[in-house]
Amino acid sequence: MRAHPAGPLHGAFAPPPSAGMPPADLGALDEQVWPRSARRVDGELHLGGKPVTELARTHGTPLFVLDEGDFRGRAADFATAFDGADVHYASKAFLCGQVARWIADDGLHLDACSGNELAVALAAGFPAERIALHGNNKSLVELQLAVDAGIGHVVVDSFDEIDRLVPMALARMEAGGSPVSVLIRTTVGIEAHTHEFIATAHEDQKFGFSLATGDALTAAVRVIREPALHLAGLHSHIGSQIFDTAGFEAAAHRVVGLLGQVHQATGEVLEELNLGGGFGIAYLPDDDPVTPHDVAERLRTVVAAECAALDLPVPRLAVEPGRAIAGPGTVTLYEIGTIKPVRLGSGGQGAPQVRNYVSVDGGMSDNIRTALYDASYTCVLANRTSDAPPALCRVVGKHCESGDVLVRDLWLPSDVQPGDLLAVAATGAYCWSMASNYNYLLKPPVVAVRDGAATEIVRRQTLLDVFALDAVLAGRPAPSPAIDQPAPEHPVGARS
Ligand code: LLP
Repeated sequence: MRAHPAGPLHGAFAPPPSAGMPPADLGALDEQVWPRSARRVDGELHLGGKPVTELARTHGTPLFVLDEGDFRGRAADFATAFDGADVHYASKAFLCGQVARWIADDGLHLDACSGNELAVALAAGFPAERIALHGNNKSLVELQLAVDAGIGHVVVDSFDEIDRLVPMALARMEAGGSPVSVLIRTTVGIEAHTHEFIATAHEDQKFGFSLATGDALTAAVRVIREPALHLAGLHSHIGSQIFDTAGFEAAAHRVVGLLGQVHQATGEVLEELNLGGGFGIAYLPDDDPVTPHDVAERLRTVVAAECAALDLPVPRLAVEPGRAIAGPGTVTLYEIGTIKPVRLGSGGQGAPQVRNYVSVDGGMSDNIRTALYDASYTCVLANRTSDAPPALCRVVGKHCESGDVLVRDLWLPSDVQPGDLLAVAATGAYCWSMASNYNYLLKPPVVAVRDGAATEIVRRQTLLDVFALDAVLAGRPAPSPAIDQPAPEHPVGARS
């Protein structure tokens, strides 16, 4: 086989199927995928009116850039579509003090799934009565915090939890307080996928009370008979990143059936039905998520029809979107450090296939989703556009692990070089919130941009923050102050 000089791809070869053929414009910003304020100005990506090179210079890279207008706009879209229902922002997607305040100010509710998410929201001043606490293994401390703070609902998940909650609720009542309001988390036996759903009789997972075994009804009856608890309603959540509303509709059908059973068994008419989150977003231009308006219409229709069939009043609906509010408005900015062309073997017509491994200054510690879920992302060269021919690339991080991949297959201009900025789209949900200190990389900051202003809403973790946790290192200086800074080795936007 003839050797081929490493470098940009040219010549015919069969690209791996996941990359597809190169798009006509490698720098295009598909409006489904990129934040609402994303624009190219003289070739450079601007977010919230801010040029990315300026953001990178000021805040360093890796950097989460959150388009405030996009985040709050999507929250408002859900609130409008679900007018008359409660929209709980699922804070596990991304939570910090500022986000808690936006959600509070914009009138939404908040779903917390640990005592510490609850603590963050309360510390930010989020109204307790608009918070619901989830979790399959809530500790006594977490439950006590929820009871003392007077949160809206505890979403009970097990018989053990009811046993733990009752004495706390009784103590609150004895002190003159009201009963603790709870929802029963049900497992409806629907396994949701992106384009299909499979109803299963047996649910092999840790959340909720099974409808199929009758546990959900037993739990509901048990709660109704506890004077210190108030059963406000039922809860169901079928999964995440779901495009097809059929799964939600099937779940709604089943959980309304349980409302009917509860009514039959106890005479109680429950006031709330929370159908969870899971509404998918576009990570790639071809993804086709449903709009909040369509989801709301379909859920309302199914619930109304099922309730009519059972001669029950329609309960107040609630939903818990996380990704669909937080995901699309944030991008991660990285600086390219090294580029390594790797020969993949021979392609069509004898031309070798080459994949450029484009290494950036973050990786699986700030976005674990590609490695963990085989998630698909897209990215663009952000500090400039380029007319260079497309090169097949894989964007990887700097961790000591070959699975440290951010974008598995994509086309970038063949002249990308160290010092260029890459922007990975739709990283607002489950990236910062799932970030780690693997290889002692530090958690990136989050900068909110809006109307030409940038505000660091979460600062970059420093090495000294991490040293502070270590029995030996606490209080010691970092060996080099530079190691604590995201100091680019190459001027940002070298070719701009
Ligand atoms: N409500 C409940 C009870 C949930 O368990 C979840 C997500 C949500 C709402 C919000 O779902 P969303 O609207 O964001 O899809 N780490 C995974 C996602 C885990 C979701 C867990 N529960 C990921 O990165 O895809």
